[in-house]
Amino acid sequence: MSSQRLGVLAIYLSKSRLEELSYFQRLSKEGKKMGVQVEVFSPTDVEADNSVRSLTYDASLGKWIRRRTSMPPVIYDRCRYKAAANYQMLKAFRNRHAKLIFLSRPLANKWSMHQILSENEGIRPFLPVTVRFSSVQELLKFIKKHTLVYVKPKNGTGGRGILRIEQLGPDLFLLQGRNQQRTIIAPFRASEKQLSIKLHTLKLSPDYVVQQGIQLTLKDGRVHDYRLLIQKNGRGEWEVTGCAGRIGPHRSITSNLHGGGSAVSQDKLLAYRFASPEKTETIKKEMNNFAYKLADFLETKFGKLCELGMDIAVDPKGNVWLLEVNPKPSREVFRKIGEIATYQKAVSRPLEYAVWMLRQNTRKAELPSSDDSNETD
Ligand SMILES: Nc1ncnc2c1ncn2[C@@H]1O[C@H](COP(=O)(O)OP(=O)(O)O)[C@@H](O)[C@H]1O
Ligand SMILES: [Mg+2]
Repeated sequence: MSSQRLGVLAIYLSKSRLEELSYFQRLSKEGKKMGVQVEVFSPTDVEADNSVRSLTYDASLGKWIRRRTSMPPVIYDRCRYKAAANYQMLKAFRNRHAKLIFLSRPLANKWSMHQILSENEGIRPFLPVTVRFSSVQELLKFIKKHTLVYVKPKNGTGGRGILRIEQLGPDLFLLQGRNQQRTIIAPFRASEKQLSIKLHTLKLSPDYVVQQGIQLTLKDGRVHDYRLLIQKNGRGEWEVTGCAGRIGPHRSITSNLHGGGSAVSQDKLLAYRFASPEKTETIKKEMNNFAYKLADFLETKFGKLCELGMDIAVDPKGNVWLLEVNPKPSREVFRKIGEIATYQKAVSRPLEYAVWMLRQNTRKAELPSSDDSNETD
C-alpha cells in the first residue's frame, strides 16, 4: 500500500497524450517499491474544487488509470514550457497552489542565466563569453575576435534555431546551423560581405545570445559534449548521479539526442580525446566540483531545486566550460549507454528526495510555532 503521494505535473502534447509517459511509468514502478504513489496530471486536470483528474499507472493491467483525487502534497514539475501559453498556465498553477511543496523552481532564460552566473567568481571562469545580439556589425566583430561563435535563441531548447559561425581564413567564414524546426540548414561558405548580407536576412534580435564557441569537433568531423546530471538524494543533499558523452550526427553543430545525437560513456569519450588517464581524472573531478558549486549557487538565487542537467564542453586543452543548465533534464542518456544502475538512480532520486521533503515538512508542522510560508518562488 502506498502511503505517500507524489504529484507529477506534465503537459498534453495532443488532446490526450501527455509528454514523457514512459519516464513517469518507470517513476511509478520505482515509487511503488518505496511506498510512493505517483499521480500524473496537467494544470488543466485540476477542477474548481481543487480535486485533480490524475493518472496512476496500474502495473498489473499495464496501463494508466484516470481517477479523481485530492491535490497531492508534493509536486514534481516536469512541464517543459515550449509555448508561452504553457508557461502562463504553470505560473498560475504555482501561484494558486503556493502552499504545496514544489521539488523545483523555474530557472531563467539563457541570457538571464548567464548574467546571474557571471556574478559568482567561482563560476565565471567556466562560462564562455556571452553577449546579447545587438547588430550584425557587432556580431561580425565578435566572430573576428573569437574565431568560433554560437548564436542561440535565449528561450530555445533541443538545439533549435542555433547557428555556428567560424572564421576559416582572413576573408572566409563558414555558417552552419539548424532552423526552428531543428532541420539542418545548408552550410554557407562566404566572404565577410556575403556573410553580413546573409546574417541580415536571418532576422536576429536581442532574443538571441551570441556565445564564444568551444572547439568540440572530433577527428571525424562530428561535434560532442557532456551531459551531467546532479540530483538531490534522500538526505536532501546534492549528489552527482552521472555524466555521459553525446556526439552529434554528421553535419550537425549540436549534440542534443533529440537532434539525432548519440550517447557514449564519459570515460570512453574522454579517453578518445586525452591519452593520459591522469588528465581525464582531473577533468572528471573538475566537472564534478563545478556541478556542486553551480547547484549550490543556483539554489541561493532561485530557491530549493531537485535536479539539474548541465551541458558541459571540454576544449582540446582539457578546460571545462558550461554551455547550458537544464532545470528539467531527461535521463535517457544513461539508459542509452547501458549504465542501468545510473539510470535507476536517476529515476529513484526524485522520489527519495520527495519523501525527504515530506518528512521535513511534517517535522516543521509539528514544531510549536512553525512557519510554512517560506516556500515561495
Ligand atoms: N558555445 C558553444 N560552443 C560549442 N558548442 C556549443 C556551444 N553552445 C552550444 N553548443 C552545442 O549546441 C548544443 C545545444 O546548445 P544549448 O546551449 O545546450 O541549447 P539547447 O537549449 O538548444 O540545448 C550543445 O549541446 C552543444 O552541442
Ligand atoms: Mg542543451
